[in-house]
Amino acid sequence: MSDNFRFPKNFLWGAATSAHQVEGGNHNDWSEWESANAERLAAEAEKNFGHLAVWPMIREQATRPENYISGAACDHYHRFREDFDIAKSLGHNAHRFSIEWSRIEPEEGKFDEKEIEHYREVIAALRERGMEPFVTLWHYTLPVWFLARGGWLAGDAQEIFIRFVLRMVDEYKNDVTFWCIYNEPETYARHGYLQGNRPPEVKNIITSYRVLRKLAHIYGECYLHIKKSVPRLQVGFSETIVYFEPYNQLPHNILFMKLIKWWRNNPFLSLYIAHSDFIGLQYYFHSRIRFNPWKSRYWFQCNENKSVNDLGWEVYPEGMYHVLKELGAWKKPIFITENGIADARDTLRTDFIKNHISFVQKAMSEGADVAGYFHWSLLDNFEWNLGFWPRFGLVAVDYENALERKIRPSAYEYKKIIEQA
Ligand code: BGC
Repeated sequence: MSDNFRFPKNFLWGAATSAHQVEGGNHNDWSEWESANAERLAAEAEKNFGHLAVWPMIREQATRPENYISGAACDHYHRFREDFDIAKSLGHNAHRFSIEWSRIEPEEGKFDEKEIEHYREVIAALRERGMEPFVTLWHYTLPVWFLARGGWLAGDAQEIFIRFVLRMVDEYKNDVTFWCIYNEPETYARHGYLQGNRPPEVKNIITSYRVLRKLAHIYGECYLHIKKSVPRLQVGFSETIVYFEPYNQLPHNILFMKLIKWWRNNPFLSLYIAHSDFIGLQYYFHSRIRFNPWKSRYWFQCNENKSVNDLGWEVYPEGMYHVLKELGAWKKPIFITENGIADARDTLRTDFIKNHISFVQKAMSEGADVAGYFHWSLLDNFEWNLGFWPRFGLVAVDYENALERKIRPSAYEYKKIIEQA
């Protein structure tokens, strides 16, 4: 791919994190789920990861229950200034992070002023370093009380969430322009309500669909409320969009591909886009669909997998181009709010970044309106039900050694791209 990067002057370059994955010390539906499930997840590690090429390297960590407890995570809650110093030194001019709802509203209707001040400091620390804050308001985790009263399916979930959202907007409206209401609602509904491998562990396709529909509806309402309250704010959502293609042109593969694409790229995507100032694209996956039920693992997918990350996910930069072209049809600015790779040895990350950004550039040269790129992630972090072993960071975190930060070589290559662009 080309090494000749040219991007608009005001393009946002940075990395992304989410509160629960890096902060440490959270108490929410996830922390409770972790305590209840860590032993089981450790016992199942070989079944879940034994097939991966990295298994010998991760065995020790993945079979320990502590791997599955977010605990102190990266202690970013206390070390955010140091982390933002690193991000700045790597040339980033923006940073995407999320606000932890369970900190702000630990009890229903009671807002914690200290935590509100905390995020004000986080935002100020970014501004002081010349970095644009890009704020996500909900990245998977929920206050325990919210889930206990039914979560998103509760009758008054909308009023409750909007109250939180408007409070955040009111607090930070002078310092934050970009607001991402949700992170990946489809992923949330799939894992939590269909596969049942994340909280609240429901396995019901109808409930999962209801959650998706409800989330889309609440999202639309949030958008309208925010815009009514402060019209100049830029408001949107992030969703993971997979680049799908059929294995061949046989009708059953095409049909099956369309069905999976409809669900996986969010059946309510158009509703989200209608209520957004920007689209937040998270690109991780390519999927070549083949209806192949006699294969037990990946029975619907047959990717070539010439290059895979530590999790066995195919590295397929060209897919970035295709999804951008498809989303371009909506004529809204697109921020790539996540794109990254689990690569503990950092052998693939440099090419991963270069190639994906080259395809962003190609799509832009053909008219896609892309306004920013946030690499996932700034730091190694807590990868949900997989725990700490997958390493997505531009910066390594040494969990055995006082959470020491070590910048990976690929982070400097990303910096070169930013400087050249
Ligand atoms: C999520 C992140 C996650 C990343 C890597 C995204 O879908 O937003 O929270 O860590 O993917 O799996």
